[in-house]
Amino acid sequence: MNSKEHVLVTGGAGFIGGHLCEALLEQGREVTILDNLDPFYDVGIKKKNLARLADLGKNLRVIQGDIRDPEKVKEAMEGVTGVIHLAALAGVRPSLERPTEYWSVNLVGTQTLLDALKGNPEIPFVFGSSSSVYGGNEKVPFHEDDPVDEPVSPYAATKKAGELCCRVFHHLYGNPVTCLRFFTVYGPRQRPEMAIHKFTRLIDAGKKLPMFGDGESSRDYTFVSDIVEGVVASLDRPIDSSDPSSGFRIYNLGGSATTTLRGLIDRIASALGKEALIERLPMQAGDVLRTFADVSRAEKELGFRAKVSIDQGIPLFVDWFLGTK
Ligand SMILES: NC(=O)c1ccc[n+]([C@@H]2O[C@H](COP(=O)([O-])OP(=O)(O)OC[C@H]3O[C@@H](n4cnc5c(N)ncnc54)[C@H](O)[C@@H]3O)[C@@H](O)[C@H]2O)c1
Repeated sequence: MNSKEHVLVTGGAGFIGGHLCEALLEQGREVTILDNLDPFYDVGIKKKNLARLADLGKNLRVIQGDIRDPEKVKEAMEGVTGVIHLAALAGVRPSLERPTEYWSVNLVGTQTLLDALKGNPEIPFVFGSSSSVYGGNEKVPFHEDDPVDEPVSPYAATKKAGELCCRVFHHLYGNPVTCLRFFTVYGPRQRPEMAIHKFTRLIDAGKKLPMFGDGESSRDYTFVSDIVEGVVASLDRPIDSSDPSSGFRIYNLGGSATTTLRGLIDRIASALGKEALIERLPMQAGDVLRTFADVSRAEKELGFRAKVSIDQGIPLFVDWFLGTK
């Protein structure tokens, strides 16, 4: 049995969290989920995610509560040997409308969890950060040591600030801490407002889809099963006691390839066997022009390598989508 046998997953009812909990349960670990079933998108989707997990066996405990509530957090921490923190208000564009709520959930929530870990320095903490911290970084691919002082959305700023909270906590209390910068994650059960899911829905329905910019902006897309492997590897990563820097690490988890927006739309249309009706609109505030992960550190230290290419992943996503209709 792995030493991290009882894992608290915050945000476990969500897209990535649901997939992650499934993998942890299948490995025979105990899982506690802390999630408030936030109404950012259809709560029914999160309930279905939880029902699927409940079917996987008895090693699951679900606590419906807010990560900013110290009592709920204390309850959720009972008996756990590892924490993976994915609960957040996600999404760049809505963060421009609700910056105060983003700061509250993403920062106060993260600090509340860290506070509850005080006195248990052996418990590792994994934080779900984001490629958005790189802002308008022009040097590609993005490396973990690149400057990240110029985020371009409140969401990105909360993720960068979350990393800083984690760093301070590790410095003061010694827990092993890992910050994972996820690069646009997709796959079955992806959040409905994310581009791949939204474009698939619109193309399938024969409706116009909004394309912001000239279609040349690009993203590094990562299939959710690859992200899950990276997250689990980071939870289990050995800490080298002779290397003081190894207790706190930041890793990019990405596909290490880029796809233009136009190329993405074409792939979805082709997988659906339908035409994309495109409405061109100006670039949106808060969006970045490109993301591109250098994953050499994760490869070397976590054995991470994305296995599902965009050409494989889009048909898998579209198959799942068609199966939900
Ligand atoms: N999906 C991506 O492409 C992507 C990319 C980079 C980073 N991330 C990060 O990964 C994590 C998971 O993303 P996701 O796409 O699965 O999002 P998601 O919205 O599906 O999952 C987040 C979960 O957190 C829960 N939550 C929100 N506020 C909460 C609160 N106050 N207390 C308790 N639970 C709360 C939600 O109910 C939801 O189930 C987030 O931290 C997100 O910022 C995601």
